[in-house]
Amino acid sequence: MSKPTGRGGRLPTPGAIFKPPLARPGVIIYSFIVHNQSIAALPFKRTRATPGQPVVRAATRADVDQITALVSEYAAEGLMLPRTPDQIALNIDNYIVAAICSRVIACAALEEYSPSLAEVSSVAVVKSEHGNGLGTQVVLGIERIARSRDINELFALSLTDRFFLGMGYEPTSISCYPEKLARYETLEADGVEIVPKRCFQKQLGNSWQLPYLMDSDVSAQKALRAS
Ligand SMILES: CC(C)(COP(=O)(O)OP(=O)(O)OC[C@H]1O[C@@H](n2cnc3c(N)ncnc32)[C@H](O)[C@@H]1OP(=O)(O)O)[C@@H](O)C(=O)NCCC(=O)NCCS
Repeated sequence: MSKPTGRGGRLPTPGAIFKPPLARPGVIIYSFIVHNQSIAALPFKRTRATPGQPVVRAATRADVDQITALVSEYAAEGLMLPRTPDQIALNIDNYIVAAICSRVIACAALEEYSPSLAEVSSVAVVKSEHGNGLGTQVVLGIERIARSRDINELFALSLTDRFFLGMGYEPTSISCYPEKLARYETLEADGVEIVPKRCFQKQLGNSWQLPYLMDSDVSAQKALRAS
């Protein structure tokens, strides 16, 4: 089994907090003001937008059709479960997207199972944007939402081991999550084909920290980290 590594293949120092490096220059992630706040909704504070560059933000109703299309493409390949526009619209507060202007190029969702447990699901990046750090960014956005809701444990199911291992997730067994197995059974009974995937988990706990902001404006980043 491969060991979790930091981005770039470096092994993390034991006990160190994982700090992902900046993705491609110019990607902006909205700021979440979070530390240990039990707030239902996270305020996203907009930093500086650069025309033509991706912005990572909370999804809105206007994004529903594009999220549906993105998820459907990978669902057809068995990489994730399909979602209907209605399901996405109903849960839009649980989605993060990366977008260039109004074009959605990546998404991820938080699926809550209990007050302390949730799944990182529907992580998808348009194929032309793979490898630009957007998958990492939308998952970091989901982790922020989870932390703001005091959710301590996240799990994810994926065939892409390196992606989740690189973000500090650890291999585990889906049998640890009977809630998920029960959902699979329901879906299978409805005729949905379930492709077996590997399971990863992460305790947010005290190791969670504000991820680096994807903005070239260094002073704005410092101010936001200090807030
Ligand atoms: C998996 C996925 C979300 C990654 O998005 P991405 O934006 O390309 O990923 P990033 O650029 O943030 O890459 C982060 C790390 O994961 C690794 N990685 C990403 N996709 C990978 C893949 N298919 N196989 C192996 N490693 C992969 C990258 O190499 C990178 O590691 P590095 O920095 O050590 O080189 C994207 O490939 C995708 O949409 N795949 C199809 C849907 C899917 O399988 N989703 C996951 C299940 S929910």
